[in-house]
Amino acid sequence: MGKSIAACLCFFSAACLMAVFSCAPDKADLVKTGKINTGEYDPEAWGKVYPNEYESWHKTRDPRPAGKSAYKKGWDTDKIIYDKLSEYPFMALIFKGMGFGIEYNEPRGHYYMREDQDIIDQSRTKSGGVCLNCKTPYMDSLVKKHGKEFLKMPWKEAVAKIPAKHKNLGATCIDCHRESDMDLRTNRSVFSEGISHLDKKEFTRQEKRILVCAQCHVTYNIPKGKKGETMGLVHPWKGSKWGDISIENIIKFIKNDPKYLEWKQTVTGLKLGFLRHPEFEFFTRQSVHFKGGLACADCHMPYRRAGSVKISDHNLMSPLKDDLRACIKCHPEKTEELRSQVLAIQDRTVSLLLRAGYSAATAAKLFETANKNRDRDFDRGLYEKAKDFYLEAMYRLIFMGAENSLGFHNPSEAGRILGDSIAFSSKSEALLRQCLAGAGIKVPEVVPLEVGKYLKDRGEKKLNFIKNQEFRDPFAVQEKLIPRKQAGF
Ligand code: HEC
Ligand code: HEC
Ligand code: HEC
Ligand code: HEC
Repeated sequence: MGKSIAACLCFFSAACLMAVFSCAPDKADLVKTGKINTGEYDPEAWGKVYPNEYESWHKTRDPRPAGKSAYKKGWDTDKIIYDKLSEYPFMALIFKGMGFGIEYNEPRGHYYMREDQDIIDQSRTKSGGVCLNCKTPYMDSLVKKHGKEFLKMPWKEAVAKIPAKHKNLGATCIDCHRESDMDLRTNRSVFSEGISHLDKKEFTRQEKRILVCAQCHVTYNIPKGKKGETMGLVHPWKGSKWGDISIENIIKFIKNDPKYLEWKQTVTGLKLGFLRHPEFEFFTRQSVHFKGGLACADCHMPYRRAGSVKISDHNLMSPLKDDLRACIKCHPEKTEELRSQVLAIQDRTVSLLLRAGYSAATAAKLFETANKNRDRDFDRGLYEKAKDFYLEAMYRLIFMGAENSLGFHNPSEAGRILGDSIAFSSKSEALLRQCLAGAGIKVPEVVPLEVGKYLKDRGEKKLNFIKNQEFRDPFAVQEKLIPRKQAGF
């Protein structure tokens, strides 16, 4: 830490500011007018003591200003819920076989996290009670009361066990604060268990400002039993370190045990693991801002005046939608300049993400062809190698597709992971072509992907491609590699 600040001070003026601000951020004013009872779940009771934070917390219900973020249009004043499968059509192909391939939306405000589970296509809640882990503050108490069985309990039954008044209550005060003194804490034993595998036992205030978010903004796996039943919930962090949870280690964890193969990919017939929103893992893997000592709260919960006092803004949202208020103290350049810098990072990431997505889709379609010709005499060795490279590509792709900042949280790591994903897919494609040619099966130069087919009539709602939501490659390279027609639009 000390070393990195010294280095920053020599080279960057922004870093000088950072040494002052972020490593020991000044505290907001703590105005306390009462006492919170231990085990108090009700945010209204906390709000009586801390009305300003309560009020700003409640605002996660409000739609966000539209037109300010290019890639994270969640639920803005245009009141449109953005469909990730329309934004990134290759995802409809690769996720076919699980709920994410049916309905997959961009995130919106914290207020909606529980009820959004009721609105989404119910294939997404098939794992049962376990899906409540990151949604209700009551999770640990429910598992304590109903035992481990709660994790496998059918979804509707599990939801019905939440106290009625708080059935739709999402992230709330008790998830992040200790009642007695408002110190930061986490509220999920699964998360504490995961963190205990890292090489770190004590956490600074600044690190806790990461941990409170990490209890949900992380990847996890749902181990499955012989009949596909839910066995629990784990974070794939064994063997990793604080500040170094690499995608390589996560993949190793998943590949190590077949119980983590949660779903079967329709196109390839392969059983795969899954990865979710890895904001914590991705940001803390030595990003510029992490190394500079920043925490999630520094960018997503900037201080705000509330009357005569200063509070941490609890209306968490995209900093772009908040006019980059959080950034100004270290980046005094004009807001629009900074916005275009963020966008430049995201444009590059999206371009690479599309490349990785369509490369993996191409390999997937070749597996489909191979599987249709199962009776032919394939070189099994080549096929197995192609499969292994494909898994390496796919896990990296799912990881970056699920990360919510489009590369901003760690730009160079995004480039590294997606670059490797593309390399693995290309290698897999080459081996499959060799394999198929050896068995006398002809494959066209550009493999038709039929993405239109996968986007059509999804689930009970019969969802379809929403053309104007698609993100095309900002540099138009993707369309040179796979023309739109062959992609299947
Ligand atoms: C209890 C779990 C939980 C915790 C704790 C949590 N989040 Fe979230 N967060 C979610 C979920 C779930 C969503 C998506 C909600 C939806 O779409 O219904 C979300 C959405 C968001 C969004 C998008 C909001 C929008 O307006 O579109 C941001 C930004 C965010 N979280 C940041 C944070 C930060 C920063 C922290 C820590 C200070 C944090 N979250 C803590 C679960 C959590
Ligand atoms: C240096 C500032 C910074 C830090 C630190 C930071 N973020 Fe972000 N975050 C951003 C920016 C910028 C975006 C992109 C927003 C956009 O594109 O609209 C973003 C996007 C997000 C989103 C998606 C928001 C949306 O509207 O859908 C989530 C969720 C999120 N961050 C969570 C986190 C978590 C959790 C951490 C800590 C592990 C973290 N962020 C650390 C700046 C930051
Ligand atoms: C997702 C996590 C999260 C949730 C939920 C949350 N807080 Fe906070 N809160 C924080 C963080 C992070 C800080 C900054 C603490 C620090 O820097 O020491 C904070 C700070 C505070 C402070 C100290 C003064 C300030 O504004 O910085 C108060 C008081 C507070 N929160 C009240 C509440 C109340 C009341 C609720 C529920 C209505 C709530 N918080 C919900 C994360 C959360
Ligand atoms: C506490 C200080 C601090 C805050 C707050 C902060 N940054 Fe930074 N930022 C830095 C430092 C230090 C660097 C690295 C040195 C440099 O390039 O100036 C950096 C680098 C960057 C870079 C270029 C490097 C990269 O590769 O990641 C961008 C873009 C950036 N910040 C945007 C933002 C945005 C947007 C926000 C607000 C959401 C933000 N920063 C908040 C201190 C901060």
